[in-house]
Amino acid sequence: MSLSTGNSKIEKVTVEDIKSMKQSGEKIAALTAYDYLMARILDSCKIDLILVGDSAGNVIAGYGTTLPVSVEEMLYHTRAVHNGVKRALLILDMPFLSYQCGTDDAVRNAGLFLKAGAEGVKLEGGRQVAEIVERLVGFGIPVMGHLGLTPQSINVFGNYKVRGKKSDEQKRILEDAKILEQAGVFAMVLEKVPEQLAGEITKSVSVPTIGIGAGRFCDGQILVSHDILGINEDFRPKFLRKYANLAEEMRKAFGSFIKDVKGGNYPSEKESYTAS
Ligand code: KIV
Repeated sequence: MSLSTGNSKIEKVTVEDIKSMKQSGEKIAALTAYDYLMARILDSCKIDLILVGDSAGNVIAGYGTTLPVSVEEMLYHTRAVHNGVKRALLILDMPFLSYQCGTDDAVRNAGLFLKAGAEGVKLEGGRQVAEIVERLVGFGIPVMGHLGLTPQSINVFGNYKVRGKKSDEQKRILEDAKILEQAGVFAMVLEKVPEQLAGEITKSVSVPTIGIGAGRFCDGQILVSHDILGINEDFRPKFLRKYANLAEEMRKAFGSFIKDVKGGNYPSEKESYTAS
């Protein structure tokens, strides 16, 4: 049985395909991957875009925030994911301090991610990263923006609550979206903002908006794969829909293995080798 639901006409998703999906009205489906096997399964389902998110810091390494994630760690994840992807557009999330120190640094690091297999990069922020976006795009490095809740700024905000509830913040986020569009992003993530604001941004910019906790009116949606699979059990924000409870399934499987080993039921004769 195949559960593949993506656009099967596209053999290899490109930045241009993602952009044209806004015009055609086809919703963009995006998920995260940090390793080879997850990437291979996702790709076989014809997902449009795979993000090697810096959420790897939370999900894979167990860091409290995304701030400790390094360029080296993201290069490792990029290579692993790249090995599993044939069709989806592969975007790499630039970790904290890999682009904030200036455009030269940003170009060098983004270049390393492209050499590792990424086909574009995502970075957080609006007007403060516009020059960096322009420079990267100028050197042939596609950039996806990220506005609203920007987890790398956690120390400024002090929480992961919804952004853009007040009109001055809404105005700023909308302006930032237009600035990023001007700077040349091919798409932008809108994280945890009211759906009316996400809808207004979606109507105001020519590039696709990809929401996470941003409601119904974006051009696409992105979630963290481990969250929708129910592996990250304690994470239950309102916007999240869980499509499986793999933590429970894993516990059942691990428990059965332990029981079989302890009871002398694993391995059986069939699972053992003989000399002949
Ligand atoms: O790091 C991440 O996973 C993200 C999200 C947009 C899902 O930035």
